[in-house]
Amino acid sequence: MSLMRSVLLRASQNAWLERQMRHRAFSRRALRRFMPGEDVEAALTASAAFAERGITTVLTQLGEDLRDPDEARAVTAHYLEVLAAIHERQLPTHLSVKPTQFGLDIDRVLCRDQLARLADAAAARNNTLWVDMEATPQLVSTLELFHDLRPDHPNLALCVQSYLRRCATDVDALLESGAQIRLVKGAYAEPADLAFERKADVDASYLTIAKRLVDDAAAGGPKHGIATHDLGMIAQIEAHATSVGAATDVVEYQMLYGIRREAQDRLRRDGAAVRVLISYGGAWFKWYMRRLAERPANLWFVARSVFS
Ligand code: FDA
Repeated sequence: MSLMRSVLLRASQNAWLERQMRHRAFSRRALRRFMPGEDVEAALTASAAFAERGITTVLTQLGEDLRDPDEARAVTAHYLEVLAAIHERQLPTHLSVKPTQFGLDIDRVLCRDQLARLADAAAARNNTLWVDMEATPQLVSTLELFHDLRPDHPNLALCVQSYLRRCATDVDALLESGAQIRLVKGAYAEPADLAFERKADVDASYLTIAKRLVDDAAAGGPKHGIATHDLGMIAQIEAHATSVGAATDVVEYQMLYGIRREAQDRLRRDGAAVRVLISYGGAWFKWYMRRLAERPANLWFVARSVFS
């Protein structure tokens, strides 16, 4: 992991910096590159605009590590309203949630119940509920929860991280159960015994697993999510799909709002399926620092915002 990435990821845990950033106008200006606005209405409006470009979306309210059961229940109530709004406006939009938003670390039963309620509400609207993957202290409990819930909630889909040494093994079990998967490289600072340190190893793991997801989808499995902005990687995955005779939209390319807009349109023009993840909400600090860590050059946007 590069020094800058590790510094930025460590800074994401700094409460003083969070207080500073949250109250500065420049950080709000810089933030607009990655989210259309803090309220859900901005995210829904952006979803409608993406739909006009033939691009589907997935919404997530920022916030993690909730410690209060009432706050966790409030998150569920919020998402139930968002689901209703998505349905009412007939948007091609899913939800993506973090287990620690539902109290994973304080009460596993509470978390399970909230996820089950949301999955039921999504299923009633023929919608998918994506579960994000957080850092490794939550990995095993998230996998257990997912395997436990999925038989009764087949519309649940799970994110996996190629930087984890165990990722391919976890994917084996998930594919065995017929689960829909979103593959990412991974956004947290993890110890070397659990995660690959070299980018080349993370990328090699990503490509191997992505090919498996293409093969699984081509053999009748669900439409897995290939979530990356790495255009070289996408080209190799597209080439693999072509070589096995799979349809262009056999998997779904997923990207974050504000990144690679031209590539999204190019993929759509070529007949691929594209979904953009739109974040909203006031608890953006940790998430925003992870975006900076992914591409430290993004710090220039922050610097420019200070002076604009
Ligand atoms: P990589 O980091 O190699 O970047 C490839 C290129 O893409 C860069 O060179 C740059 O040009 C561009 N790029 C990447 N990130 C950028 C940024 N922030 N700003 C500008 N350009 C950028 N992680 C996780 O741990 N758990 C999760 O649940 C999720 N969920 C998730 C959903 C979706 C839809 C996406 C797209 C991503 C996630 N992630 C995630 C984040 C993921 O783990 C990873 O950190 C980012 O996608 C960046 O990795 P890339 O695959 O883009 O490759």
